[in-house]
Amino acid sequence: MKNFTYSISTVVHFGKGQISKLGGEIASRASRVLVVYGGGSIKRNGVYDGAVSQLKEHGIEWVELGGVEPNPRITTVRRGVELCRQNQLDGVLALGGGSVIDCSKAIAAGACYDGDPWDFPAGKAVPEKALPIFTVLTMAATGSEMDNIAVISDMDSNEKLAFGAPACLPSVSILDPTYTCSLPASQTAAGTADIMSHTFENYFSPIETSYLADSMAEAILKACIHYGPKALETPDDYEARANLMWCASWAINGFLDMGKPVAWSVHAIEHELSAFYDITHGVGLAILTPNWMRYVLNDQTEHRFAAYGVNVWGLDPQLPQRELAETAIDKTRAFFNSLGLPTTLREVGIDGEKLPLMAKKARTANFDRTFVPLSEEDILNILKMSL
Ligand code: NZQ
Ligand code: ZN
Repeated sequence: MKNFTYSISTVVHFGKGQISKLGGEIASRASRVLVVYGGGSIKRNGVYDGAVSQLKEHGIEWVELGGVEPNPRITTVRRGVELCRQNQLDGVLALGGGSVIDCSKAIAAGACYDGDPWDFPAGKAVPEKALPIFTVLTMAATGSEMDNIAVISDMDSNEKLAFGAPACLPSVSILDPTYTCSLPASQTAAGTADIMSHTFENYFSPIETSYLADSMAEAILKACIHYGPKALETPDDYEARANLMWCASWAINGFLDMGKPVAWSVHAIEHELSAFYDITHGVGLAILTPNWMRYVLNDQTEHRFAAYGVNVWGLDPQLPQRELAETAIDKTRAFFNSLGLPTTLREVGIDGEKLPLMAKKARTANFDRTFVPLSEEDILNILKMSL
């Protein structure tokens, strides 16, 4: 195991009815907040009413910013920063999924920064300060509720870029699994694929000496495989929703890569798909992941995929390694398919035209350090396999 520092200061209130803690938590840190939300799902499933009644009860004033897009735009971030400044707000409350939370993080940091908030994703500045961020999570997927990352898009330049900084870690997150029961099946499926992808990105690392983290990764994958279909079959299955929600937070909160620095492969490629075609993040990952696995399977990596097959899919360890590895990859593809997720880029309206451009933009120096280092040509091949 390599040296590491683990510090996650987000206070998590997990479970049914935990929104009752929201007002007190905000009141001890802020008095006037920007309430950020998306296209309106929170007004239909009780999240908005629950949050607003907490604000009223604790005498917290608020201003609203609705309409945050899935794949949140920098233009919306700029509007939020403006609202914080005009109204002298001192906190940001995100009500929604990863897009709303990411947008809120960028707003919270942008409000404490003199320049344009696009400087953060563009890599021109790292947020040093941010207004305190509070989240009420409505979707198990990105883990944004317990990490310091935000992913923001500029659709004019077809760029979707991530940034992260300790200042952007939420102060408090309310994780009530019942809020996720209203998700459309397609989003439950996409969220499950996203959780699994975060886990794969950490699990398949060049460094192999992290038994504890890898065992936990396998447990998260098994939980997704067990509970993803249950949540689809019975949307208000509390155990299924609760397990998926906690898996989402732990897949990306820094635990799974402790002692084994990782560089992610599939996410960088997927972000290009979203940047050019505005597709759902988890859908892009579900299409790419099995093809990436196939592409990087070789004599050096087959034992890793074989271990995944044995420990996660319960395959017979007596089988030859290559057979185990290939079966595990086939099972991964079949599982995503069984959740109703597309398996090809064409199904989501992507043809071959922009693949070379996307491969070029995706290829950064990061790919020198991935599980299997990938060139621009390799990335293009993976995209072509996914067509
Ligand atoms: O806009 P509303 O009305 O809220 O509807 C949303 C949206 O249409 C809906 N939804 C969410 N919760 C719901 C619900 N509908 C009914 N009931 C509920 N309880 O679902 C749709 C998708 O929401 P969104 O927030 O976009 O999904 P997700 O949580 O998957 O977030 C995706 C974004 O996060 C980024 C992705 O790239 C993408 O931009 N990521 C952020 C990461 C991070 N911060 O660490 C890491 C990830 O890898 C990812 O890149
Ligand atoms: Zn993701």
